[in-house]
Amino acid sequence: MIFLDLGYQPFANEFPKKIKDKEKKYRLLIDFNKKNGVVSIKKKFQSKKIFKKDYPYRSSLSETMSKSFGELSKKIKDKYKKKRILEIGCNDGVFLKNFKKKDALGIEPCSNIAKSSIQKGLNVLTEYWTYKLSNKIKKKYGKFDIIFSANTITHIQNLNEVFKAINNILNEDGFLIIQDPSLLELIKNNAYDQFYNEHIYVFSYLSLSNILKKHNLEILNLENVKDHGGSIRYYIKKKNNKNRLNQSVINQKRLEIKNGLDKIATYIKFRKKVENSKINFVNLLKKIKKNKKTIIGYGATAKAVTVLNYCKINTRYIDFFFDTTPEKQNKFMPGVKIPIRKYVKLKKKFVDYVFLGAWNFKKEIFNKENKFIKQKGKFVSHVPYPKIIP
Ligand code: TYD
Repeated sequence: MIFLDLGYQPFANEFPKKIKDKEKKYRLLIDFNKKNGVVSIKKKFQSKKIFKKDYPYRSSLSETMSKSFGELSKKIKDKYKKKRILEIGCNDGVFLKNFKKKDALGIEPCSNIAKSSIQKGLNVLTEYWTYKLSNKIKKKYGKFDIIFSANTITHIQNLNEVFKAINNILNEDGFLIIQDPSLLELIKNNAYDQFYNEHIYVFSYLSLSNILKKHNLEILNLENVKDHGGSIRYYIKKKNNKNRLNQSVINQKRLEIKNGLDKIATYIKFRKKVENSKINFVNLLKKIKKNKKTIIGYGATAKAVTVLNYCKINTRYIDFFFDTTPEKQNKFMPGVKIPIRKYVKLKKKFVDYVFLGAWNFKKEIFNKENKFIKQKGKFVSHVPYPKIIP
């Protein structure tokens, strides 16, 4: 059942070079499948249409992500000594760089991003994750003890092929560790901006365990982590009667049922919250502009693209965005065509209010911009509800 309509949207990570550039748009509708609990965007694009040779997203540019993946790799190395690891969707090597080259293999389809991880001395194949590729890897490298994938599996349309390929090269007692945004956190935070063309699925424990069942895989343990505004890290194994479920799995299942993630009514309630958020956010920006104050954006994120296009926010409200990613600078925010500039430290002298496009890195940003906050500079965010901070 379609429960949310986020309007016509451009591709979130295709930044037009010129204001007049024509863009492809699609209708962003969100679906809840009552049978298996899967929440997905209705129009599902193939990886080849999205992840190409000039992909602009680089994980290493955030200190928070580098730290989080650094800690996780240490944990994996300490726990599973001398094990070989495969990462699906390794981006610029933010996780993989913590392992020895001989022990770790990365898969990354975007050639510009794969190139930057290869330049760091990592072993990376510039390929899409397919069953055919898993056969090729098995022949050359054998099976793996650990397969890791963060913020990638939910970006691939054909989940049956994804898990069939994983099963093909995961050792019988090996671990599959996947991490993706949590549907429960999304709903709680009213973070509708997690939906865009790349985020085909947003998993809950309930929906992921249903999908895995079909592939003879099961979730044995999980951790709620802060990454990307609230994610779950799942520890998965092939079904086996020696497998033991950790209490965290039982707790998460209870929590998701308690919060109604298996019920249509929850999603209808969410839609109403999102529609109110749009009205209140636009009113907030209007009020700021009426007082003749300036607003800029911080973090030209894919999430911000959803918000701006859904709420129809353009340069009438936001003068420009700052972003640290060279590939995004001197381009425009997709759809609404707000210019993106090279980041410089915020100063009250040139801006009054700053829209947090990267609200998921609020802590990191507030630390970096403590002078601006001391100068009484303000931020605005739509998450969990439209407000001015502090
Ligand atoms: P992210 O929130 O991971 O985005 P997405 O919604 O696209 O998945 O992306 C963070 C973006 O914000 C990225 O383009 C880098 C930028 N950024 C800054 O410009 N400055 C910062 O201090 C931080 C933390 C991020």
